[in-house]
Amino acid sequence: MASIESVKAREILDSRGNPTIEVEVVLADGTAGVASVPSGASTGKYEAVELRDGDKSRYRGLGVLKAIEHINTEIALAIVGMSALEQAAIDQRLIELDGTANKARLGANALLGTSLAVAKAGASFRGVPLYRYLGAEGANLLPVPMLNILNGGKHALGSTDFQEFMIMPVGAANFNKALQISSEVYHSLHKVLEDKGLSTNVGDEGGFAPRLPSNKDALELILAAIDMAGYKAGQDLFIALDPAASTFYQGGKHHSAHGKYVLSQEGVTLGSTEMIDYYVKLVSDYPVISIEDGLAEDDWASWSLLTAQLGKQIQLVGDDLYATNMERLEKGIAQKASNSILIKPNQIGTLSETLAVIKRAQQAGWTTIISHRSGETEDTTIADLAVASNAGLIKAGAPCRSERLAKYNRLLRIEEELRETAQYPGKRALYNLERMK
Ligand code: PGA
Ligand code: ZN
Repeated sequence: MASIESVKAREILDSRGNPTIEVEVVLADGTAGVASVPSGASTGKYEAVELRDGDKSRYRGLGVLKAIEHINTEIALAIVGMSALEQAAIDQRLIELDGTANKARLGANALLGTSLAVAKAGASFRGVPLYRYLGAEGANLLPVPMLNILNGGKHALGSTDFQEFMIMPVGAANFNKALQISSEVYHSLHKVLEDKGLSTNVGDEGGFAPRLPSNKDALELILAAIDMAGYKAGQDLFIALDPAASTFYQGGKHHSAHGKYVLSQEGVTLGSTEMIDYYVKLVSDYPVISIEDGLAEDDWASWSLLTAQLGKQIQLVGDDLYATNMERLEKGIAQKASNSILIKPNQIGTLSETLAVIKRAQQAGWTTIISHRSGETEDTTIADLAVASNAGLIKAGAPCRSERLAKYNRLLRIEEELRETAQYPGKRALYNLERMK
């Protein structure tokens, strides 16, 4: 009865008003699962391929009708009749059907939408929430949210060089309180900006996007906001950064190690070791506990140097570096390139591969952060995925804009549902850092 009867895709719009895919899977007993696919702006070059039409007469070439056609014909034909409860078998079938290393033929967006809709139909068929379906009985850990309250880089042109300035409410007793603290700090930041005559407009992930001369100015504003809200930085909340360094890295002519990091807003150009020194200074001057993509996606040797230097003190997260890809993760583990990985299901294209990458990183003693994309929908799968995988951390934007809040609100509901069995890790989410134990 859990056999798939139909698979249907449609074009919907994401939070930036660009087309994306929604997939509906219906089982023989009438149970349905619906999922949609997010989209990045600072997309890493090792990500699986997001198939776009390229037809300039529709949505500036960003339509996804080809990918939808693949779902409605080839993909549907391949998985209709299979059991929705066999997630691994279905994902394997999708991977084989596509037949390329980077999902370029059918599109990683087509594959992921299908994969997630199958999982949701399976959970529904079993009559359990998605986090329970994917994570079994032990899945009771709510994630510490990493809220991007100040947006720069490609998410807010003309703001800061660094893409994201996040707060992590590690001092809260539970997720509900963590969200309250974060929202209060967010609104204090609004006041701090207003008092200084700075813009309170927001960027793609709901964080403020003032025009600032340097990244340090952003950190100072956030510290002022934490203080104004009545909390202690370095205790109640820490700061996390995602410079998204690949976006301001200019590769060397013959060798990537000769590239430069160009902070144009700040008016400085740094070599890899100078960029590392810049972070060492930031970490000693500010309560920064996590840096994601501090270096570029091809600058492997520098990643290992950065980790040797700061990896005991702070979380170093590879996003573009790993692209949720097992081979790249294995390379990172072997080279001690970081101590954490960002997990974005659409970087790899199926749920099973995503779960395998999370598991492998956890086995290596790394932290895992389940993440949204800058282009999102109302889909809340990543909230369930965070709980199901015991990730301990989630990155879903500012406490502003409904496509961001959909994830946090889903977590509020999950925490309520789990009652006294719900756990909030707080500082322990960063279990691989001595000072957070
Ligand atoms: P993206 O950015 O979704 O625009 O790629 C998010 C990130 O870099 O973490
Ligand atoms: Zn990132």
